[in-house]
Amino acid sequence: MKKPEKLIIFDTTLRDGEQSPGASMTRDEKVRIARALERMRVDVIEAGFPAASVGDFEAVKAVSDAVTEGTVCALARALDRDIERSAQALGKQAPRRIHTFIATSPIHMEKKLRMSADDVLAQAVHAVKYARQFTDDVEFSPEDAGRSESDFLCRVIEAVIAAGATTINIPDTVGYNIPGQFGSLLRELIDRIPNADKAIFSVHCHNDLGLAVANSLSAVLSGARQVECTINGLGERAGNAALEELVMAVRTRQDVFPCDTTLDVSQIVPCSRLVSSVTGFAVQPNKSIVGVNAFAHESGIHQDGVLKSRETYEIMRAEDVGWSANRMVMGKHSGRNAFRTRLAELGVSFDSEEAVNEAFSRFKTLADKKHEIYDEDLIALVTESELAEGHERVKLLSLRVCSETGETPLAKITLSYDGEEKSTSANGGGPVDATYRAIDKLLNSGSHLQLYSVKAITSGTDSLGEVSVRIEKEGRIINGQGADTDIVIASAKAYLHAMNRLLAPELRSHPQV
Ligand code: KIV
Ligand code: ZN
Repeated sequence: MKKPEKLIIFDTTLRDGEQSPGASMTRDEKVRIARALERMRVDVIEAGFPAASVGDFEAVKAVSDAVTEGTVCALARALDRDIERSAQALGKQAPRRIHTFIATSPIHMEKKLRMSADDVLAQAVHAVKYARQFTDDVEFSPEDAGRSESDFLCRVIEAVIAAGATTINIPDTVGYNIPGQFGSLLRELIDRIPNADKAIFSVHCHNDLGLAVANSLSAVLSGARQVECTINGLGERAGNAALEELVMAVRTRQDVFPCDTTLDVSQIVPCSRLVSSVTGFAVQPNKSIVGVNAFAHESGIHQDGVLKSRETYEIMRAEDVGWSANRMVMGKHSGRNAFRTRLAELGVSFDSEEAVNEAFSRFKTLADKKHEIYDEDLIALVTESELAEGHERVKLLSLRVCSETGETPLAKITLSYDGEEKSTSANGGGPVDATYRAIDKLLNSGSHLQLYSVKAITSGTDSLGEVSVRIEKEGRIINGQGADTDIVIASAKAYLHAMNRLLAPELRSHPQV
């Protein structure tokens, strides 16, 4: 049988995924996700946009230092300064990729760039040549290709391949295309561009019409051999094509696709959970592959069929994509070594012995309250430790909440704000409402709560409760997370996490503005 061709998986969770409002990640969070992607054997990890801010630069540098397998990529506008920042952040170790882009659609060139088509072409060629001075692996994207004229796209792409671009990425930046049309565009470009065989064609689809995965797969059938995607479909506006859906569609339908990925798909669910817990973006229960109901059968007929022969209603095996794998249970008798080993397997490493001790002592405290500790609990625990290390301006010192039938709930709270102890109390509609009102009284932040959600990390009433909040102030959206076996305390932690992020100035710029 003919071996399938390789389909390159380019993950942009850390770059385009981070452009989801409220999904910004710290350097350490990015490193943790990058390690999980590396474990999954993702081919290219787009780590960020170093010219955006010092924080982004440092994060790309840290990911580049941490990842030893696969290619780390940095995004740069078609500007010398952006390209230099990318090269500096990526460092010298190969393989490293610079991804440069400039818009080619009439509307973007006229209204956004205010540049003529010839000037755009010249700048694209210059950027690719300049990037090649730093690395042999240069990707070029004609932004908004999905709404660009195909004759102009052919001219630009032929010229950038001649200038040294090794990957040509065709973005449907605004999610406007439909599958047949997008597939035809790829076929036309590959057929018409004389030097098309000198580069790999890639696609990058947004999900505004819910077609990102369908468009990407259509392009793969037309010859694209790299797909850009994100875990859980995270990304700008309605998101990007979801990695898990693309990868499993290609793997499951090998009768249709001439190519396959080399991913370890058993890492899909752990990776999805990690991204969800870091960003606070919950995965909808009926989400393909990674939603909790993706493999659950409710109807009696289906259950009966699956019990007799699972293929009757299942096209994939839950355990193949990581459901119920990696669920080693730990408890209060587990030692420090087992704790550290399991976390290493989950991609978490510690900077110092002190950090291990601190996390292990939290583990012991949790183990006293909860008999069985699962991977999800361990991840939440480490996230907690990292939050605590985050030099927060506001810290929770104590919280007492009274909630009784027929009485209005009351919260009494003490915080440390820039080292000064402050206490107050407030009533509310429920214990969480009272707690949030008390925090608002002390911080007076002027922000608005947009979203509050609580979920049990594992099953059982002794489970850790994980709370996610989203607050907004003057257009800035910030997420916060907190976990505790007491959900009121978890709620307070999540709100304070968001407040601490709000208090830290944000100086990032957006690559596409
Ligand atoms: O959507 C888009 O066009 C992008 C480019 C920078 C590739 O994210
Ligand atoms: Zn994008």
